[in-house]
Amino acid sequence: MKKIFVTGGAGFIGANFIRFLLENSGDIAVFNLDKLTYAGDLERLKDLSSDKRYNFIEGDICDKEIVRSIFSRGIDTVVHFAAESHVDRSIDDAFPFERTNVQGTLNLLDAARHSDIEMFVHISTDEVYGEIKEGQFFETTPLNPNSPYSASKAAGDLFVRAYQHTYGLPAIVLRPSNNYGPWQYPEKLIPVVISRAVDDKPVPVYAQGLNVREWLYVEDCAEAVFQVIEKGKAGEVYNVGSGQEKRNIDVVKTILSILGKPESLIEYVKDRPGHDFRYSLNADKIKKEIGWQPKTGFDEGIEKTVRWYLNNEKWWRRFSS
Ligand SMILES: NC(=O)c1ccc[n+]([C@@H]2O[C@H](COP(=O)([O-])OP(=O)(O)OC[C@H]3O[C@@H](n4cnc5c(N)ncnc54)[C@H](O)[C@@H]3O)[C@@H](O)[C@H]2O)c1
Repeated sequence: MKKIFVTGGAGFIGANFIRFLLENSGDIAVFNLDKLTYAGDLERLKDLSSDKRYNFIEGDICDKEIVRSIFSRGIDTVVHFAAESHVDRSIDDAFPFERTNVQGTLNLLDAARHSDIEMFVHISTDEVYGEIKEGQFFETTPLNPNSPYSASKAAGDLFVRAYQHTYGLPAIVLRPSNNYGPWQYPEKLIPVVISRAVDDKPVPVYAQGLNVREWLYVEDCAEAVFQVIEKGKAGEVYNVGSGQEKRNIDVVKTILSILGKPESLIEYVKDRPGHDFRYSLNADKIKKEIGWQPKTGFDEGIEKTVRWYLNNEKWWRRFSS
């Protein structure tokens, strides 16, 4: 029986991944280690609490003892999502980002190298490449992070690389683009827009809203991680991009139109310091070598996401109040 150690599985992508993993696997054991920071919430997984394959452990990835005790259960695969993940928070205070995203990652890698794992899958981000005005990022593009968040993620990537190279740890780095979909904490763009617009409150948009992001539906991201566990090669980096690039202002206007709300709710606010203008991933490698394809186009995904937030108001209102 395969034993999978997931970190940060009470967060947005991690929870969607655990659900996908259990729905698409037979006899496995999943160990979810999560500190339950402001961004972690077990409600995301409450329907799985009776699934005997699923185990939750509350704790910090920086805690050597807890991490060691989980590895001692005979883990085959690690999928490392746990992170401080919000760029604006990293601009206010970078230290929690360095602690979890760098020290926490290092703590996991070090425990992993002393155990007999098959694969360590590190979830990174497209933001480690910095911004690109034209063209695309390839897996070979040099890292050029601009925010404290992306700097901490890039440092994690480099430790993964060093552990692979120095100790022969079998590891893969995945770099997904911006995820959206059910259960995203309402501080990120899409849930912010939905939750504010539902209440007819002003919807803040940085600068003129011209920054471009590549939007990946969270279930497609979960499937990419799932397929990489099965078919990925140790030592490789895979970009996970949808090809669905949108200017922020167009995302906001699409959501307002689905909700039947006026564009006069848009309030242009002072830009984020050091705001990356555009990210764009070349995802040919994961498509060719793994056979992964994103299934959800932006129009379908954003419609599903807005419906989900409308049907789950009780959940997100707990945070937005
Ligand atoms: N959301 C995106 O658009 C996106 C895009 C690309 C990459 N990523 C990466 O994917 C991963 C997951 O992102 P997300 O959006 O689900 O994040 P999230 O903020 O929703 O969830 C992070 C989870 O990690 C947990 N956590 C934080 N610090 C911890 C610690 N020290 N020990 C144990 N658990 C801890 C939190 O409680 C939370 O459950 C992150 O590594 C992020 O950098 C996210």
